[in-house]
Amino acid sequence: MDGNGRWAGKRGLPRSAGHAAGAETFRRVATYCKEIGIEYLTVYAFSTENWKRPPEEVSTIMELLDKYLREALLKMERDRVKMRFFGDMSLLSPGLRRLIEETEEVSGRFEGVQVNICVNYGGRDEILRAAGSYAADVAAGLVPSGGRPDEATFSRYMYSSGIPDPDLIIRPSGEMRLSNFLLWQSAYSELYFTDVLWPDFDERELDRAIIAFQARHRRYGGIV
Ligand code: FPP
Repeated sequence: MDGNGRWAGKRGLPRSAGHAAGAETFRRVATYCKEIGIEYLTVYAFSTENWKRPPEEVSTIMELLDKYLREALLKMERDRVKMRFFGDMSLLSPGLRRLIEETEEVSGRFEGVQVNICVNYGGRDEILRAAGSYAADVAAGLVPSGGRPDEATFSRYMYSSGIPDPDLIIRPSGEMRLSNFLLWQSAYSELYFTDVLWPDFDERELDRAIIAFQARHRRYGGIV
C-alpha cells in the first residue's frame, strides 16, 4: 500500500493523513474484492524495516490498524471475511496483539474470502523462521531427518500455509520492486506496477490490473 506519504505531501498534509487515506482505500478495495469474487487479498501494512520510521509515524500506523480491527470485529457477522495476519506479532503492543488474536479466532470460521494483513512482516524473515521451525520439527522427530524438505512441505512453514501463491501482485506508487513482500510465494506471480499512489487506488484501478493480468501468458517455465 505504497505512496501514502507522497499523497499527503502533495496536498500539504502530514504523512499521518496519507496513512489514514490509505486505510480507507484498503477498506474500499477489500470490499470490492469481495464483490467481484477475489478469494484472497494480501496487503502489506507494515514491514520489518518500517520500524526505522519516526516513532509518531509508527504509532499512527498501529493506531489505524487498531481502529480498523475494532470496526472489523463489530461488522464481522455481516461481512463474514476470514482474516489472518502474516508477520512477527511479538513486537506489537499487547493490546494490538490481543485484537489480532481475537480477529483471527472470530473470523476463522468464515469461508469464501480471506484477507491477509502483513504486519511486521518481511519475506526474508519469513523464510528464515520457516527454516528454523522446520529444523526444530526435524530435531523433535516430527518430520523425517536426513533429507531436505520438498516445496509443498516447506510452504506449510510459511505464514501463508494452506493458501495458494498469489496470482497477481500489485505495487502502486511507481516503485518497481517487491521490497521484501512474499518472496517465497511470488516465484510465479504476475507483477503489476502502477504510478497511482495507494490512497488514489480504487475499483477502476483494480479492474485495470485484473484486465492486464488476464492478458498475461503464464507458462511456469514451460512452453505452452
Ligand atoms: C507505505 O507508504 C505505507 C505504509 C508503510 C503504511 C500502510 C498502512 C496503512 C494504510 C494503515 C493501516 C492498515 C490497515 C490494513 C488498516 P509510504 O509511507 O512508504 O509512502 P511514501 O513512499 O509515499 O512515503
